[in-house]
Amino acid sequence: MAIVRMPGLVDAHVHLREPGYPAKEDFGSGTAAALAGGVVTVLDMPNTLPPTDTSERLAEKARLAQSKAVCDVGLFVGATTTNLDAYLPAAHLACGLKIYVSDTFGSLRIESLDLMHRFFRSWAETAASRGFRSLQNPNGLGPIAVHAEELMLPVCLALSHLYQVPLHVVHVTRRSEIALIAKAKERGYPVTCEATPHHLFLDESDARRLGPYGDMRPRLATADDVAALWEHWEVIDLVATDHAPHTHAEKQGPTPPPGVPGVETMLPLLLTAVHEGRLTLEQVIERCVTAPRRIYGLAEPPQTWIDVDVDADYVLEDGQMRTRVGWTPFRGRLVRGRIVEVVLRGVPVWREGTLLAQPGSGRVLFGAAEAVVAP
Ligand code: NCD
Ligand code: ZN
Repeated sequence: MAIVRMPGLVDAHVHLREPGYPAKEDFGSGTAAALAGGVVTVLDMPNTLPPTDTSERLAEKARLAQSKAVCDVGLFVGATTTNLDAYLPAAHLACGLKIYVSDTFGSLRIESLDLMHRFFRSWAETAASRGFRSLQNPNGLGPIAVHAEELMLPVCLALSHLYQVPLHVVHVTRRSEIALIAKAKERGYPVTCEATPHHLFLDESDARRLGPYGDMRPRLATADDVAALWEHWEVIDLVATDHAPHTHAEKQGPTPPPGVPGVETMLPLLLTAVHEGRLTLEQVIERCVTAPRRIYGLAEPPQTWIDVDVDADYVLEDGQMRTRVGWTPFRGRLVRGRIVEVVLRGVPVWREGTLLAQPGSGRVLFGAAEAVVAP
């Protein structure tokens, strides 16, 4: 047994499903799954029911999170076709603005160039007075995060360049996309990007094998696309899971929704890649701790670490999962690296498979929890 102490991870892309989808997940179950995976900070997406699209709804979500979360939580505000006037008061309470421009689960979708343009412009104008968020300026605005596949990617790159708004491209999947982002970075565009463990470790042959349990947006890609992500490892700023749980019943139903859970399997998968010599531990810490904290301006909680047994090998099974939906697309996979203990702000919150934290001991970030709901 070889115990390695590491900083707690950040998962900058999760869907904890509250409010609106309690059968899939809530802040209690989702943040417990995070601790099980060595993750101490999650950034939660706005495609809930209702969507997180105004400061009132952000404050309401923050209260729900504050009452249940066992790790720290940042909240995205989402762009909708009707909230252009209502979303801005939430800007500095959110970790960033999420814009869905490609097809996926939930009702949030922006498809007009005019609206896209106006969201980028309003974000840039607001940031002109506050600045963009960084560790030095925690009160500024976060990046605009986009779910942009295919031809929507150059649209987002152009707008972020024109307005000099930091753009974070979530779950990059294809060779064409990572190559374009590489080029944009070479030219000094203010762009960062993330890849998910499922796009790094699974491909379209797994999608055929897994059926609905291997269906998510973007879909699993070709082996060549997966190779392209690994070839462009230096272009990928961070790894985040897009933890998107759906129940067995939904996945086995007539119209299975896209999305797979992942917050608790990211670190074992990456540590296995370290064991195989595909990555170094320093690269994992850069992609899962340092870069997300830098990009979203998240201070590291003091006295926070995880202890990992990097020699432990075991098979990932549905029954081990802490997510409410109780399954993983990585079921049956042999991994090496087990999270033994998680300490958050000096308090052991997870040890040997047991949750020790009290509900609400996690913190809601960026003052969202203190935000007052307008009458
Ligand atoms: C996500 C979900 O279920 O919320 N699904 C997915 O396939 N990734 C939505 C999203 O992130 O696109
Ligand atoms: Zn997502």
